[in-house]
Amino acid sequence: MNFYIKTYGCQMNVRDSNSAAALLIEHGWSPVETEEAADLIILNTCSVRDQAERKEIGKLGFLGKLKRVNPSLIIGIMGCMAQSRGEELLNRVKHLDFAIGTDRIHKIPEIVDAIRKERIKHGSFERAGADTPGIDAHRFDGAESPFSAFVSIMRGCSRYCSYCIVPFVRGPERSRSMSSIVDECKMLADHGVTEIFLLGQNVSAFGWDNMAPPKDDATSPFADLLNAISAIDGVRRIRFTSPHPAYFSQSLIDTIARNDKVCKCIHLPLQSGSDRVLKLMNRPYDSAHYRSIVNRLVAQAPEIAFTTDVIVGFPTETDEDFNMTRDLMNEVGYDNAYIFKYSPRKGTRSSRMDDDVPQEVKEERNQILLADLEKRAESAHAHLSGRIFEILVEGPSKRNSARWMGKTDTFRQAVFTPDGIVKPGDYVRVKIGRTTPTTLYGELL
Ligand code: 5AD
Ligand code: SF4
Repeated sequence: MNFYIKTYGCQMNVRDSNSAAALLIEHGWSPVETEEAADLIILNTCSVRDQAERKEIGKLGFLGKLKRVNPSLIIGIMGCMAQSRGEELLNRVKHLDFAIGTDRIHKIPEIVDAIRKERIKHGSFERAGADTPGIDAHRFDGAESPFSAFVSIMRGCSRYCSYCIVPFVRGPERSRSMSSIVDECKMLADHGVTEIFLLGQNVSAFGWDNMAPPKDDATSPFADLLNAISAIDGVRRIRFTSPHPAYFSQSLIDTIARNDKVCKCIHLPLQSGSDRVLKLMNRPYDSAHYRSIVNRLVAQAPEIAFTTDVIVGFPTETDEDFNMTRDLMNEVGYDNAYIFKYSPRKGTRSSRMDDDVPQEVKEERNQILLADLEKRAESAHAHLSGRIFEILVEGPSKRNSARWMGKTDTFRQAVFTPDGIVKPGDYVRVKIGRTTPTTLYGELL
């Protein structure tokens, strides 16, 4: 029996899909590359913006056509939209067989087995503990990169940023135990994984579930976790996403800066550079605090690179507010930024505010920030010409398979000519020549 999983949204969903696939493979299912070849299709859904949900509902409708051709096909949904709208969709969409919530991944094999025996619709939406057996399964069939792996360290979020649907959908913060995470990383290292990518909605609050932001001198359980993972032989790089600025204590800053295995590329969601808007967003830091985190990291680790998330057109955002965001972004000099146009989500606090920034203004602000970013990336990359970087090799470049690509410690993409010996997963040294805003081109040393 064959399965196909289509994943929408963030890296957490990619991780959950891999875990679902690993469990299905353990239960005798085989992964296939196309929907047409599958006996089971699962859509792993995202709810963070309305546009995503509309796309997923469209896709679900389309799957009805496949079911008319193959009536024994099993169709299910998982992920955020399945958690929040699963019951409604099970009632409304005739060809949908099951919907499971974000904490029910370990139940998938059992549910599809039951449906194969008897065609009854299944919905399962309860919350589970973060260390529930099976929920963090890995697959080693070559579909996940054999040298880099996602590891989920906590489930849910309790921050309730006023625009965000995640706490409602994924439930409250639940950190895994340090020992189960370290054991998982050791197991991955034993399988040849050298790069560990830690995931959670609020990773800097690891071990501080549901707690208010700490004082600056607080010891950080997340820093302890980074140190524990870096002590594993075989682990060479540790990345993480997403941290929350309000949970950056000095000890976390010191650990990131001083621990050589922690990659010097930090995704630090800003959301807005205006203190007034940050307050309305229920983000418990101001622009001065954000700046101070950036400055303290740069002071200790001058090569560090930053990426961020920003929302334009939040209710009441004026040109002045927007310009504060723009100025702060230019001051930090991000390597990359995910810029989102505000979209009200039902049930969130900000959805009760008037969505008063016109769509054209949101679009215009989006374009301004994108143009700033490109300009900055161009000059920042040009400065790297002549430098030598250690690259984790991924494989042939998508555009030109005669050249290969890999990533620097700061997550920049580097392209080089392979020498016939180098293989994916190797760490090599590359001297940079030509650069573009997105890519560094260099030669193997
Ligand atoms: N509208 C626009 N962007 C949003 N994000 C979360 N909720 C919304 C929303 N309602 C963005 C935030 C978050 C990222 C994952 O998605 O910037 O960091
Ligand atoms: Fe959403 Fe805020 Fe939690 Fe991030 S920290 S998932 S933006 S509520």
